[in-house]
Amino acid sequence: MFKGKNVVLGVTGSIAAYKAVDIASKLTQKGLAVDVVMTKAAQQFVTPLSFRSITHRPVVADMFDLASEYSVEHVALAERADVMVVAPATANSIAKMAAGIADEILYSTVLATRAPVIIAPAMDVGMWQNPVTQENVNKLRSRGFIIVGPGYGRLASGLVGMGRLVDNEEILGTIYHVLGRKGDLAEKQIVVSAGGTQEPIDLVRFVGNRSSGKMGYAVAEAARDRGAIVTLITGPTALLTPAGVDVMQVQTAAQMRDAVLKAAAAADVLIMAAAVADYRPATVAEGKIKREAENLTLELVKTIDILAEVKGDLIKVGFAAESDDIVPRATEKLKKKHLDLIVVNDITAKDSGFDADTNRVTFINRKGETEQLPLMLKSEVAHRILDKVVSLLAAK
Ligand code: CTP
Repeated sequence: MFKGKNVVLGVTGSIAAYKAVDIASKLTQKGLAVDVVMTKAAQQFVTPLSFRSITHRPVVADMFDLASEYSVEHVALAERADVMVVAPATANSIAKMAAGIADEILYSTVLATRAPVIIAPAMDVGMWQNPVTQENVNKLRSRGFIIVGPGYGRLASGLVGMGRLVDNEEILGTIYHVLGRKGDLAEKQIVVSAGGTQEPIDLVRFVGNRSSGKMGYAVAEAARDRGAIVTLITGPTALLTPAGVDVMQVQTAAQMRDAVLKAAAAADVLIMAAAVADYRPATVAEGKIKREAENLTLELVKTIDILAEVKGDLIKVGFAAESDDIVPRATEKLKKKHLDLIVVNDITAKDSGFDADTNRVTFINRKGETEQLPLMLKSEVAHRILDKVVSLLAAK
């Protein structure tokens, strides 16, 4: 979906420069054309060859290199960019960008570009906290630059504090979010639920299920990449929280209900991918239940059906995890919960459903039309769901 889009990745002289190689790689894998621009200091840490080998494009490393196709073309580079990213950005580079100094091609490109610029700072804690740096960062922010991070943690100096380059996933998420601003879901408010809920039995135990959250997270990320304003309401998962998405962590079905009802009130679309517990323990024992009785019976009571409770003028997409009578059962759910679309997966298939990276789903719409999709990555399934959402929104 990012085909034909161009990212200019500026790399400055930080020990974290090696992480930019991975950023370049991930962007290239996404189908983006990546032009890397390096400062002289950056080349002390990584070589242009690393980037060139990954992006398969020339790397701009010297403003006065007449052999380079970009030597006097920083303006062309700046013009071609759909987004520019400086990662890692040192305190020195931030100071130069804030002051408009253009003594290297990276800085003249930042100065010349009309594309959004994302800056991911990386430096020692003292340099980050210095009022000069803070002033420079605020200056850039107030001019519309997007600042990602820095994060907290162990620094190259051995100190622990603010200044670490944030995780690449966060930088990448921000890039996709910016690139997707004009996508086919631009400005649409989409609420996605994901993961399984946990219903407490006592202080340390719960009734749960095997949902990994992967399907819902894939939908949230795909919607973000297509320009939507995404709220992800998630049960506990082992997944990284996606950048550029508003994430709300919940544990129980009751908490998920409150969060979903609140978010759905202002939403255009609700996509309910969470595996909400159907039953919860009637009472939660105080402390920890002791291993004393020979038998222990848990009384379970029904939870509220969140999807059925959400009313209003929004598109509702539900999921159905079925093991038999798949289409009739799912159609029944679509009707009962007043859905526009239901995404059904056969949980008996090994390569799809819970915890897999792939899924094999069937769509059923209000007219009762079914569409069976082949086995595909959850990220692809996510886009196919959103294609349907785009049509449903257009038909409203
Ligand atoms: N769902 C919900 N609230 C619940 C249970 C389920 O909103 N308390 C949503 C799920 O997120 C999913 C859809 O309803 O989008 C269908 O979930 P599923 O568990 O397959 O259906 P149930 O209605 O719970 O029926 P059953 O478990 O009997 O198949």
